[in-house]
Amino acid sequence: MIIAIGGQKGGTGKTTTTVALADAWHKAGKSVLLIDADPQRSAMTWGDVRAEVGLDSPSIIAMGEAMHKRDQLPRLAHGFDVVLIDCPPRFGKILRSAMMVADLVVMPCGPSDVDAWALAETLDLVEEAQTLREDLRSAVLITRKVPRTTIGRTARELLAEGGHPVLKTELGYRVAYQKCMGYGQGPATFDQSGKAARETHKLIAELELLMNEEEATHVA
Ligand SMILES: Nc1ncnc2c1ncn2[C@@H]1O[C@H](COP(=O)(O)OP(=O)(O)OP(=O)(O)O)[C@@H](O)[C@H]1O
Ligand SMILES: [Mg+2]
Repeated sequence: MIIAIGGQKGGTGKTTTTVALADAWHKAGKSVLLIDADPQRSAMTWGDVRAEVGLDSPSIIAMGEAMHKRDQLPRLAHGFDVVLIDCPPRFGKILRSAMMVADLVVMPCGPSDVDAWALAETLDLVEEAQTLREDLRSAVLITRKVPRTTIGRTARELLAEGGHPVLKTELGYRVAYQKCMGYGQGPATFDQSGKAARETHKLIAELELLMNEEEATHVA
């Protein structure tokens, strides 16, 4: 299962979500490969911090716009249960490359209508990739949601009207997501009984279900 976490807008929660998933899947005993495709290398730094605090880590490597080439990610991916690609904002070429090899692209998006509007450019890129690869799935993940603050229409409503799948799981705006990064952890390790950990586990279950359904369709 190869999941690209992407979006052209900066600061939507791509890296935070990617490392939360990597941490939780690793903790659950899956073999995880984390691809840091952002030249800022935040995911790599997270891995360095994780090593410094003495935690066992998923495999993490840096890759760029050539990751789809046969001798790169496709050669490595089959040794792992889960591959997560943390994509950078604005580098369309890197997101395109990730979508050439991914089974699923997850697009983190804030909770408001403005956030949904800002996703338009990314959705164009995803649709373009899907014309080349019919089996590329896509889903929007609502994240950084502050409870009881919805004003006007939500990103979920707007995106659903546009026909884009939106994951049922939503991630709240929680300090735990911010704090755990600095300890080389995700909520599943950092604050096991907290709300962020619960959401992360829910997200994992939903993504696994989505990918299993897809596999079943292919077999049928
Ligand atoms: N669920 C959340 N709750 C609270 N803060 C969050 C959450 N997700 C992300 N953040 C915070 O939002 C900021 C941006 O997050 P992050 O770096 O993950 O976004 P990004 O999409 O990877 O950014 P970039 O586009 O620069 O790569 C960070 O300060 C992060 O701690
Ligand atoms: Mg990032």
